[in-house]
Amino acid sequence: MEMMIRPRRNRRNPAIRGLVRETVLSVDDLILPVFFHGDAEDVAIVSMPGCTRWSVGGLIAEVKSVWETGIRAVVLFPKIAEDLKSPDGAACADDEGLVPRVIRAIKEACPGMCVITDVALDPYNSDGHDGIVERDANGGLKILNDETVAVLCLQALCHARAGADIVAPSDMMDGRIGAIRVALDEHGFGETGIMAYTAKYASAFYGPFRGALDSAPKEGDKKTYQMDPGNIREAVRELLLDEEEGADIVMVKPAGPYLDVIARLRDETTLPIAAYQVSGEYLMIKAACAGGWLDEKAEVMERLLGIKRAGADMILTYFAKDVARWIK
Ligand code: PBG
Repeated sequence: MEMMIRPRRNRRNPAIRGLVRETVLSVDDLILPVFFHGDAEDVAIVSMPGCTRWSVGGLIAEVKSVWETGIRAVVLFPKIAEDLKSPDGAACADDEGLVPRVIRAIKEACPGMCVITDVALDPYNSDGHDGIVERDANGGLKILNDETVAVLCLQALCHARAGADIVAPSDMMDGRIGAIRVALDEHGFGETGIMAYTAKYASAFYGPFRGALDSAPKEGDKKTYQMDPGNIREAVRELLLDEEEGADIVMVKPAGPYLDVIARLRDETTLPIAAYQVSGEYLMIKAACAGGWLDEKAEVMERLLGIKRAGADMILTYFAKDVARWIK
């Protein structure tokens, strides 16, 4: 054949493929979400095989071993005891609560670890919602926006006082990024960053996580605050607001089924983008690979590469420790 242009020349051998590779996954890109509770036992999480709900002691040992893999960032998800939950989730701002205690313990054991905290009321809220619930005359649920934002500011301040590097509001209330930014700045935490869950969809992929923390809504769903899966222009709208309100990092969640959203936000912003490969995405891979049908390492690496290629700068993934080991 008469052909001057042959794309296969650039795929001839590993050296050339390495030179022309456009996207590479690095351990620097990884953020590991960790689960813990106030109990003394480390408990295997049934809905997320391979994940553990740690005791505080177990978590500190785990964080040290995470550090050894080269991972430099964790995001904290507590399971709060039932008797500490209330309609207004007030326990979320207690300086002696589980989360601030854990932040201080991680910073003491592993000072270089970037500690990111979840800001939302669902672990503390007796209704299992991310915001404060009000019932109308017909018993319908309403999630109060501004009242919730006031509590989220107290929660973010509590995390900042304990030493969190970055707070990550996952609640999807309107105006919370700006309100938290002002609260942090007014209290001398101008250096504490905000990772905004900018485009967090009302997704069916969060089920295993809610099982891990026993945090499913007692009634109703999260569709009046999390985004409709059909929408992408709305993600840009949320992005513009979060940028204006002072977000340092914006997030798309879930990741795999929303690669188009990641790519779109990449085109629209100069801010770093985080993508959250959520519990349902994790569980699907685990289940498929448990039967030997797919190769777990190859599957995970390709999916994470796809998320990065779409435009994510960093990825929250329950596979982070495995990936760090595989990259090495
Ligand atoms: C709640 C929160 C959820 C997740 C992270 N923060 C669940 C939800 O919104 O119901 C899900 C993460 C996952 O599924 O891995 N603020």
